[in-house]
Amino acid sequence: MRPLHEDLHGPHQPQRNFKRPCKGKFMKEEIVNSNWKLRKGEIIAAKQMTSAEKWFDIKLDDGELDHEPGQFVQVELFGIGEVPISICSSPTKKGSFELCVRAAGRVTNEMHKLDVGNYVGIRGPFGRPFPVRVMAGNDLFFVAGGLGIAPLRSLINYVMDNRKDFGKVDILLGCRTPQDMLFGDEVAGWEKRLDVNFSCTVDRGGPDWTGNVGLITTLIPGVTIIPERTFSVVVGPPVMYKFVINELLKKDLPERQIILSLERHMKCGMGKCGHCQIDHPKNYYCCKDGPTFSYDEVKEAKKL
Ligand SMILES: Cc1cc2nc3c(=O)[nH]c(=O)nc-3n(C[C@H](O)[C@H](O)[C@H](O)COP(=O)(O)OP(=O)(O)OC[C@H]3O[C@@H](n4cnc5c(N)ncnc54)[C@H](O)[C@@H]3O)c2cc1C
Ligand code: FES
Repeated sequence: MRPLHEDLHGPHQPQRNFKRPCKGKFMKEEIVNSNWKLRKGEIIAAKQMTSAEKWFDIKLDDGELDHEPGQFVQVELFGIGEVPISICSSPTKKGSFELCVRAAGRVTNEMHKLDVGNYVGIRGPFGRPFPVRVMAGNDLFFVAGGLGIAPLRSLINYVMDNRKDFGKVDILLGCRTPQDMLFGDEVAGWEKRLDVNFSCTVDRGGPDWTGNVGLITTLIPGVTIIPERTFSVVVGPPVMYKFVINELLKKDLPERQIILSLERHMKCGMGKCGHCQIDHPKNYYCCKDGPTFSYDEVKEAKKL
């Protein structure tokens, strides 16, 4: 069987064409035909989703973003800084793309102050996408924890828009409290669909919550899968991966069919600074080799 990434969309980072690296500082001029060109994006809609997360719909001045599910953009706030953010809309949505941003620090807090009519700089799309073509024709088992729903939503909505290309679809969603749930209206729509099995759980319910309470791992035993033809796509906080993967392995799901999206603190975003290195014998860089990996590729990492 070929490694997953050979089945994907060509080599890692197909958009980046670097000239032979020179000694010393990496020069901007070294990048040819690359997605590193800064494009102007206008915020055409924005909404505070929870106390910590804000959603933005962004239209590029010069055309489509042309991304694939699982990729990210570098968002530049002029004069403040640049941050990697996953694209949370499906490529089937044309005209604009969406981001869901958690206020974590300097740049993301400034971004929360922006609204309709403001502009940001956009570079990308970057990163190895989810292996959509490999997954086509198979059953899909999505496991999203917290903000992990943002990158997963781009894939889930892609699958919904091409539903006949995929088999059974199960979605498990976990968040801390009902108030922390992102994309609530859309999630309610998934729940109503007859061609999707959806379950959700919260760590702490409240007086009005009648759903599941407990960690997302408690829902996994209740999902029936046929391991040979199921791909599980798992995105969530690092602490979640180990426990979710253990449950999936108990279901005999092959390691190469467990797909993860890893997040590391990035700086250069182009495989130069080493900031996003994954502690693994192969020294993967999250920006260049990921952010999506199959579990068999990264299982030797000290920390997912
Ligand atoms: C591929 C990728 C996709 C991402 N997608 C999203 C997304 O869809 N939505 C979203 O809200 N955020 C996402 N992030 C995280 C986001 O990039 C960081 O929150 C942001 O860079 C923080 O920048 P800041 O200037 O606001 O905070 P800073 O002032 O730089 O940092 C605030 C705090 O957060 C920590 N921190 C910063 N970046 C990270 C990180 N990547 N992982 C863990 N801790 C970090 C810092 O160490 C510091 O403690 C993504 C990151 C990556 C690498
Ligand atoms: S962010 Fe610099 S190597 Fe990945």
